[in-house]
Amino acid sequence: MSTTTLYGGAAHRRVTILDLKKAKTDGEKWAMLTSYEQMTAEIFDTAGIPVLLVGDSAGNNFLGEENTIPVTVDEMIPLTRAVVRGSKRALVVADLPFGSYESSPEQALATSIRFFKEAGAMAVKLEGAHLATVEKLTAAGIPVMGHLGLTPQSLHQLGGYRVQGREDGEAILQAALALEKAGAFAIVLELVPAELAAKITAALSIPTIGIGAGVNCDAQVLVWTDLVGLTANPPKLAKAYRNLRSEISAAAQEFAADVRGGTFPGAENTFN
Ligand code: KIV
Repeated sequence: MSTTTLYGGAAHRRVTILDLKKAKTDGEKWAMLTSYEQMTAEIFDTAGIPVLLVGDSAGNNFLGEENTIPVTVDEMIPLTRAVVRGSKRALVVADLPFGSYESSPEQALATSIRFFKEAGAMAVKLEGAHLATVEKLTAAGIPVMGHLGLTPQSLHQLGGYRVQGREDGEAILQAALALEKAGAFAIVLELVPAELAAKITAALSIPTIGIGAGVNCDAQVLVWTDLVGLTANPPKLAKAYRNLRSEISAAAQEFAADVRGGTFPGAENTFN
């Protein structure tokens, strides 16, 4: 169990956006992980991870898509519901899929309400500086996490998974300030130079959550399949803390060998 005061302070209830605000004031760093189903939600929640993101990275890490673009609201809702059900203390944030919020603040509100009512999400995340949308959602009682820098839903517009803000760092800083003013409670900074992320973090009173953004963000996020070494070709920004890909492969091979050799099921797995 984590000993962070952030999580300890919320030992008998869900972490809230106020806890995250306080963590920033106290200078306490925290970790966010993605989760797309019940088992990892349960494990990460018990391990003391205070925020679980049901990311649209489910597209390329769970649903077999090439990237996040094809992911739909109807696919994300059951995943979010499973993460909410699998966790007891984490704040669960649902990623709004591409095409489900950009048309208008009204579209974003209708989509977010579905995540709240049908899945039990406690906040939503959206990519880019959609300021009127952030205002609309927060006025309706829906906490919004922003996402700047590399925004994977704009992959084709950006020309690939490239570091952002090397030339236009000021634009990202201004977008972050505008998102904070519009009511966002936190902002993911993805694949931006560490120096820029540090500058944005110092300029904001809401937490920044880095991924490929250096060590000076208030929090860090990893895609869970990268964390445990399941991803076949992990990106440079990720760190694998275990190699579950080889563990799972070994388990599957041993099982198949036992079946071939007639040693599974054994007496302990057999009923009389
Ligand atoms: O979808 C996702 O997993 C994300 C994180 C990488 C921040 O947006």
